[in-house]
Amino acid sequence: MDTIGVGLIGTGYMGKCHALAWNGVRAVFGDGPKVMLRHLAEANPDLAAQRAAEFGFEHATADWRDLLADPEVAVISITTPNAFHAEMAIAALEAGKHVWCEKPMAVVLEDAERMAAVAAASGRVAVLGYNYIQNPVVRHIEGLVKDGIIGRVNHVRLEMDEDFMADPEAPFYWKSERSSGYGALDDFGVHPLSLLQTLLGPVEAVMAQLAKPHEQRPVTGGGQRPVETWDIASVLLRLHGGVSGVMALNRSAWGRKGRIALQIFGDKGTIAYDQERMNEFQLFVAEGRPSEQGFRTVLAGPQHAPYDRFIPAPGHGLGFNDLKLIECHEVLRAIGGEAARVIDFGHGLLIERAVHAMARSHDEGRWVEL
Ligand SMILES: NC(=O)c1ccc[n+]([C@@H]2O[C@H](COP(=O)([O-])OP(=O)(O)OC[C@H]3O[C@@H](n4cnc5c(N)ncnc54)[C@H](O)[C@@H]3O)[C@@H](O)[C@H]2O)c1
Repeated sequence: MDTIGVGLIGTGYMGKCHALAWNGVRAVFGDGPKVMLRHLAEANPDLAAQRAAEFGFEHATADWRDLLADPEVAVISITTPNAFHAEMAIAALEAGKHVWCEKPMAVVLEDAERMAAVAAASGRVAVLGYNYIQNPVVRHIEGLVKDGIIGRVNHVRLEMDEDFMADPEAPFYWKSERSSGYGALDDFGVHPLSLLQTLLGPVEAVMAQLAKPHEQRPVTGGGQRPVETWDIASVLLRLHGGVSGVMALNRSAWGRKGRIALQIFGDKGTIAYDQERMNEFQLFVAEGRPSEQGFRTVLAGPQHAPYDRFIPAPGHGLGFNDLKLIECHEVLRAIGGEAARVIDFGHGLLIERAVHAMARSHDEGRWVEL
């Protein structure tokens, strides 16, 4: 595979993130096929043309199905709102394209099940946008856990907080519509669940409570509209091997900007990490004299692969968009038939099932087994 033709659907926040990744992946990693930015789709034709010029794509269209008909497009990035993922991913796979689709898979579990089934039958690569597992620091933490540096893991605590829904006066938009999903659970919860699944294996049982901090929001142009989603979720978890867990999610957490705080407790030590300080982690190992015991902070550096592909100097720091670029490289590895660190549609379905089990637990007020 000397070259690969790329299609991109959606050019908002994530669309730009994918475009940056496709633009930079070969320069950073120095391997893989030459990336040909072939065809971009955006709902508004003028915006499509503008974004194609900005991102470096050859063709622009307002009809995403044009990408399916383009024989030069081999892989399609899907970065549209959640409600479109199932239809677009299934159509792309059935047209013989590889798919790199933003999380969550789908709003409805049956759609996610269909996506996984179509992906499995297609023989094509179908990967979800779980960028946080790509952080070199998270990769290193995974190695520490697997090597038993903190002993046998007995408890994990995860918090994900941002404040983009905190202002009660912020206007109603698609993230408050039930058609986008449950709210914090599938918008947010899937990210910490991707970390959990990667580091500690799948969730076995859940007990959840969802909450709405704001019952209604102003509509642009006047009036109020009831909020249909839950911006807060509190979840108890039972993980593989009897490990207990707690997950707290809040899209209305004033002051929190990109917090994904993870603590893994073992019988010999503890690891702590927070995405807001994504270039470091804390490690406590219960050894030596108690008088000098304490957490040490480890800064990311070239010894934490693939940090070295970006910067030779330690402590200088990667950013959010770099995680997407690493993910892009893994997508290319998967397409090339290599073992890749990705959450594909099959593994993504386990995350979706956990999310829907949490919603059911909230509805029924009881533990739900997966
Ligand atoms: N991986 C992450 O860390 C992360 C972060 C934010 C969002 N997301 C996910 O990315 C997806 C997009 O979120 P966003 O924040 O980029 O949204 P956004 O609103 O910024 O961008 C969505 C874009 O899709 C376009 N679009 C909508 N319908 C279309 C259609 N039929 N054809 C072509 N274009 C269409 C919109 O015009 C818009 O430009 C969501 O599924 C979201 O959950 C992932």
